[in-house]
Formats: sequence, structure tokens, C-alpha cells
Amino acid sequence: MDDSEHTWTPIRYDEVSPETKVVINSVIDRVPDLPLSVNRIIEMTSDEDTNFKELVEVISSDPAIVSNILKVVNSSYYGLKKKTDNLHLAIVLLGFKEIKTVVMRSFVTRAVGAGKQYKDYDTRELWQHSYLVSVCTDKFCGEDDQQKRGVLLTLGLLHDIGKFALYNIAIQMKKRGIKPMGIGDLSESALILEKEEKLFGVNHTIVGGMLARKWNLSERFISVLECHHHPSFFDRSEIPSEFEKEISEICISDLIVNKLFYQNNSLPLPQDHFFETVGFHPPLESIIDQKLEEKLNKAKDFMSELS
Ligand SMILES: [Fe+2]
Ligand SMILES: [Fe+2]
Repeated sequence: MDDSEHTWTPIRYDEVSPETKVVINSVIDRVPDLPLSVNRIIEMTSDEDTNFKELVEVISSDPAIVSNILKVVNSSYYGLKKKTDNLHLAIVLLGFKEIKTVVMRSFVTRAVGAGKQYKDYDTRELWQHSYLVSVCTDKFCGEDDQQKRGVLLTLGLLHDIGKFALYNIAIQMKKRGIKPMGIGDLSESALILEKEEKLFGVNHTIVGGMLARKWNLSERFISVLECHHHPSFFDRSEIPSEFEKEISEICISDLIVNKLFYQNNSLPLPQDHFFETVGFHPPLESIIDQKLEEKLNKAKDFMSELS
């Protein structure tokens, strides 16, 4: 794609029609709140000094999370000779980072139906993509910056949460016999954001921001979810300056993962400025080294084992 084709830009929250907001809100209203246990586990697994016993206690309070953790640790990826039902052992083997991923996945599955497949909408693949993006953000963290690493990991896992909600809307429409609007005169190769706006009058970044508000997530989460593709279309003036770094990190990680694993619908490359914000220069290839590629391939194998 050359620059002359980049005239299309995604709509912003304020530009969504009132009718569309009503429909989206009716779906979002049915999404459960973020349970306290999930919130607490995410906090605890982001803090290196967390008391292990306390973490086990919080996790034990949620049977769905316990069963998911055991399922992961008993998967062939970990190669245990004998299956275990020991939660302590499972938490030690998985480590805080994987625990957080399992917890988020478990919640997303319950909240917006991840794991289901409907026509072109493969939420397992979407979860895999989100996981890879979260792994890729490690590239932008110093070895000893655990706090930042924890935040970026969660942002990566949640950045496309709006897509899960859009898939739910599509499923609801089908159940009620409502035909989606269709992508009209758009070509199959149109950008995914453009297709979403044709189909739903809104795109996944806006719906993601609406979900983040519902879950009382921080301004940082709301902004990153809402603006994570902005660097591909807008200049700095359209991005909240205090979160520009995280937005750029998620945006560029997303582009790297899509380039390496999903050759479909890649978005325009952000302006040089956004690369500089994360400490690199374009093109994307200059960020992708062998170590990162190996790490992402390993993460992809891990996800494939689980699904
Ligand atoms: Fe996205
Ligand atoms: Fe994404």
C-alpha cells in the first residue's frame, strides 16, 4: 500500500451515531463486571513482592480460574509425567506471567465469549494474537522494569477486547435473524477497522474503550484500548500525550505480530515519530531480531497447545 491510499481514517468515539451507541451499550450492559478476584490477581501477579500464600488464597476463591490453571499446567506443553491437581505446584510451574494470562483468558471467556468460533470470527485465533502482542511488548521493557512489563502484558492481552464484543454482537444478530449490514462496496482486502465500521457503525477500538470504562479500568487502559491503532492513521495531536508511549508500544507490537504471523489486512505504518517514542526507527524489521522471533514462536506453540 502506498501513502496515497491512506486517506481513510477510523471514526472516533464522539463521531459514533447515537443509535449505534444504544445498540453497543445494550450488549455491553450484559457483559459482567470485572470480578474483584480477577482484579486482585492481576495486581498481585504484577508485583514481584507478592505474598505467595495470599495469591494462592485469592486464586482458590475462583473455581473457574483454578480449573483453568490446572488445565494449562497439565497440558502437553509442560510435559508433566503425572497430571497434578496441586494448585501450589501449578502456580510455581506457570509463574506469575502465565497465571495472569490464564486469569485474563478465563475472565474474557466468561465475559465476552472467547473460545467460540462463528464463521470468520475465530476468537481462539484472536486470543492467540492478543497473547503474542503481549509477549512482543517485552521488547520495549528493560530487564528490571517489572512494573512496566506487568502493565504492558495486561494491555497486550486486552488491547483487542472490543473485537470479542463485536463478535458477540454478530452472534446476537444472527440468533435474532438480523442480517448484518454487509461490507457493501468495500473490497475483501479493506482494512478490518473499515469493515467493522461498515458492519456495525463502530470499530473495535471504540468498543474496547467502552468496555474499559464499564470495568472501571484506569484512564491509561481506556486510552490505550481506544487509540491503539491511531498511530497508523493520525499524528500526535490525536493521541493523549501522557499515554503516547504505551499506545505506540501496543500499536507497533500489534503490527510486528501481524507481520510475522498473520499476513492479512496490515495497517499503515505509523509516522517515524511513534517509532522514536519507543526507542526505535522504522521499518518494523529493524525491531524484529532473532531473539524476539524465537520468543514469539515459542509463545505461539504454547497457545496452540492450549487450544
Ligand atoms: Fe486492534
Ligand atoms: Fe491487535
